[in-house]
Amino acid sequence: MPYYRVAGEIPRKRHTRFRAPDGHLYAEELMGEEGFSSDSSLLYHVHPPTAIVKSEGLTDQAAEPGLASNHPLLPRHYRTQDLPAGGDLVLGRQLLVGNDDVRVYVAAANAPSGLYRNSTGDEAIYVRTGTVRLESVYGAIDAAAGDYVIVPRGTIHRWLPGADGPVDALVIEASGHIRPPRRYLSQVGQFLEHAPYCERDLRGPEGPLLAEGEDVPVVVRNRAGLTSLTYAFHPFDVVGWDGCLYPYAFNIADFEPIVKRTHAPPPVHQTFEGPNFVICSFCPRPLDFDPEAVPIPYNHHNVDSDEMMYYVGGDYSARKGSGVGIGSVTLHPSGFTHGPQPGAVEAVIRGLDEGRTSTDETAVMIDTFRPLLLGRAGRSAEDPEYAWSWARAARA
Ligand SMILES: [Fe+2]
Repeated sequence: MPYYRVAGEIPRKRHTRFRAPDGHLYAEELMGEEGFSSDSSLLYHVHPPTAIVKSEGLTDQAAEPGLASNHPLLPRHYRTQDLPAGGDLVLGRQLLVGNDDVRVYVAAANAPSGLYRNSTGDEAIYVRTGTVRLESVYGAIDAAAGDYVIVPRGTIHRWLPGADGPVDALVIEASGHIRPPRRYLSQVGQFLEHAPYCERDLRGPEGPLLAEGEDVPVVVRNRAGLTSLTYAFHPFDVVGWDGCLYPYAFNIADFEPIVKRTHAPPPVHQTFEGPNFVICSFCPRPLDFDPEAVPIPYNHHNVDSDEMMYYVGGDYSARKGSGVGIGSVTLHPSGFTHGPQPGAVEAVIRGLDEGRTSTDETAVMIDTFRPLLLGRAGRSAEDPEYAWSWARAARA
């Protein structure tokens, strides 16, 4: 995270004697990225965070014998809104697409998760509907529709859905770190004036939680799979912490769209970057305002990337007539030229003539620089007619 935060009680100097009221020393834990060479936070636990009493291997239900290649090559449309609801936000994930850099799931969670630590990479959870509370060693974040919640690698946490129904979420598991794009930041990490969001838009954890408990299981994901590690003491026994590494939330409605006179390409919507992928937010905004502008995307072929789009709100003009709705995911792979459904451009121009000047479309896009393979859940919710929708509209 680009900026410093402090919560609870900490001593004035790092690595000095910091004692509880009963006289015992609090236990330090440094959570640090890239060895000791990048962002970190220093946490103070009541009990040693090293004390484990049991380790058991778990079967990873989300693991698949093999993601399928996109072969024969096709653009895909997954109706994730048709997938079954249930489970929690960790073990109830349903895999849509993935590769060695990133895996993308949906979940419709209605149960609290157990404690979880993903040691393979950062996660970004985008909440489409519902409310959910993230509790972690750093404290709690309350999230609602439109929130991205970034959970750094190694953070012990759990997800507690609100009482208002299942939490529909897109889950992005990176193989490394998910960060604001480098070009938005100053040399020392402050958001620059041209960035479409800034520090004020990010919500850090409230807390700490100061939980007590003994023999507490934590599901840990590492490269080998899932393990249940039982801790002698509750990992949320933190009295204070400070640093630049912690979970945070950012709401898509706080993204300030960048608009041009004629159509702007997706990099203006970039929100985060990860290893070999980017995350973009398409938000309600004025339509391109040149009198001759074609105000929706032009056909394009991203020769180096696969493009996945999650439709989360509003009316997506470019996909009219394609069967895509709220909750849909489309995959437009390298090797295929994609663009608006035929007729969509004329429809938007007619709308402009009738006085429509803005779009309320809201979508989350992930572009990967290596091909996306197809997960079982995605394949089970596929609309087989999508690939032919451009030709069908063109011939109508
Ligand atoms: Fe595209």
